[in-house]
Amino acid sequence: MGKFITFEGVDGAGKSTHLAWFADALRQRGLDVVITREPGGTPLGEQLRKILLNQPMSSGTEALLMFAARLEHIEQVIKPALRAGKWVISDRFSDASFAYQGGGRGLDWDKLSQLEQWVHPDLQPDLTLFFDVPIEVARQRLANNVSLDRFEQEQADFFERVRAGYHKRVRENPQRYAVIDAAQSMDKVKHKLEVILASI
Ligand code: TMP
Repeated sequence: MGKFITFEGVDGAGKSTHLAWFADALRQRGLDVVITREPGGTPLGEQLRKILLNQPMSSGTEALLMFAARLEHIEQVIKPALRAGKWVISDRFSDASFAYQGGGRGLDWDKLSQLEQWVHPDLQPDLTLFFDVPIEVARQRLANNVSLDRFEQEQADFFERVRAGYHKRVRENPQRYAVIDAAQSMDKVKHKLEVILASI
């Protein structure tokens, strides 16, 4: 079996920039690495992504569509790759639903746990890299983007709740996470990633 690694953080934390570098470092070790993302990762998931990022909807619908895309992603991409001995790196997974729909939108945490139990009772990431950053820093980084999606357009208080949602998830299961101070310089973050790479 390969390993399943997820990258998480609020929009603007810089996780996606580091993901490609991290995957390359694993490939240099001779590992077969699959890079994927949520919402998305399958043809249906990518269609759901377009809807989720653009179309206003209730928070319950949002959570259900996130988990619908996830079920497809797990069955079509993640599990087959892991069974084939590949390493899977996903840009976001269920922690994002707890942080955004639970923390950000205020959806009931237990309902999300029920969806998680339904959709992946037997799968959790082996490791989650959580890029943690103060919301002012994340928002400054987003300010350079030309077009912002439905989530990125949210106000600072939404992102404060998202960040708190991530912290709650980390507290519930600390051994699964590597928390990275993403307000640091790129070089310092890279150094931290090297330390993590040496430990897996
Ligand atoms: P991305 O910009 O990192 O690709 O993620 C797309 C957006 O979707 C991001 O703002 C976070 C949001 N999202 C959720 O709200 N819930 C989820 O379960 C996932 C996977 C993403």
